[in-house]
Amino acid sequence: MTYILGIESSCDDTSAAVINNTRVLSNIIANQHVHSAYGGVVPELASRAHQQNIIPVVDVALKEAKISKNQLDAIAFTRGPGLLGSLLVGTSFAKSFALALRIPVIEVDHLKAHILSHFLEDTSGEKQPKFPYLCLTVSGGHTQIVKVTSPSAMEIIGSTIDDAAGEAFDKAAKIMGLPYPGGPEIDRLAKQGNPLAFKFSQPRIAGLDYSFSGLKTAFLYFLRDSLRNDAAFIDVNKMDLAASIQYTIIEILLKKLKLAVEQTGIKEIAIAGGVSANSGLRQAMLTLAETEGWELHIPAMRYTTDNAAMIAVAGYFKFLEGDFAAQNLVPYARSKF
Ligand code: KG4
Ligand code: ZN
Repeated sequence: MTYILGIESSCDDTSAAVINNTRVLSNIIANQHVHSAYGGVVPELASRAHQQNIIPVVDVALKEAKISKNQLDAIAFTRGPGLLGSLLVGTSFAKSFALALRIPVIEVDHLKAHILSHFLEDTSGEKQPKFPYLCLTVSGGHTQIVKVTSPSAMEIIGSTIDDAAGEAFDKAAKIMGLPYPGGPEIDRLAKQGNPLAFKFSQPRIAGLDYSFSGLKTAFLYFLRDSLRNDAAFIDVNKMDLAASIQYTIIEILLKKLKLAVEQTGIKEIAIAGGVSANSGLRQAMLTLAETEGWELHIPAMRYTTDNAAMIAVAGYFKFLEGDFAAQNLVPYARSKF
């Protein structure tokens, strides 16, 4: 029985979770609504909100898990990548709390945590992936295909050379005048639209890498030209536009994933990260897995976007190896992985 407290503060969600081995006892997330008025995350406001939220969120996580802080065996926290000011709040809190409780502190890479979120156990009874597996990590800042050989051995075999898939969703939404974050808005509208109504060209990038900036530019110019002829173009075609851009992003994502399966021979497949909440992507992956004979692992909705349970489980694997962090460690803004 190992109790780990996980802390996540890399962007605009303050989250704390308690797990017992890999079983989730609590997973509390405080969202920061302050950013929606600015159309994106304002780093200064994010770190301030983390500072306000962190102690209450940890308090609730411990209460909901029905354990006392003295029962904790270790504290795992997100070291990076993310916004430095936000990461500093979680890092400083985790280090001080661990020091006060005289327990080890464990640094976790946010992206690796998304990838290991599949090992969280709760009531949903999801099957855990077998090693080695391929994970398509699609978030607001990253798009990668990762070969996962063990919790500590991961290799990026493909990644975006410019924008991330989540950025493509958010930027397309912004061009359409939708609120931030745009991914869930596009998802919602796409459900009622025709995915083949508009066609956007796909990038020609060698190997397993991705590119999304060309699609964003093509979408921007297409709308600019269409609005010249019809000022109500976006309003009238909102659903078809959302469905078509979503369809194109999914096509781009899955084409390279299919190629990665061909190249590695690995058919154990997982998706992770905020964009894995997208209902179109989830459905397309289910269909593809069926035809291609993949063993597919889709995380429960609550573990797709940023959460501390995934940080705790990544920390648990490091705890088993005795891989602890030093008190003088500092966060990193860019991925080290
Ligand atoms: O993993 P995440 O919560 O934070 C990062 O580490 O970046 O991912 C956030 C991204 C945002 O770009 C957001 O628009 C996107 O995930 N997202 C979605 C959906 N839900 C969140 N994109 C498409 N469809 C969704 N349903
Ligand atoms: Zn994330």
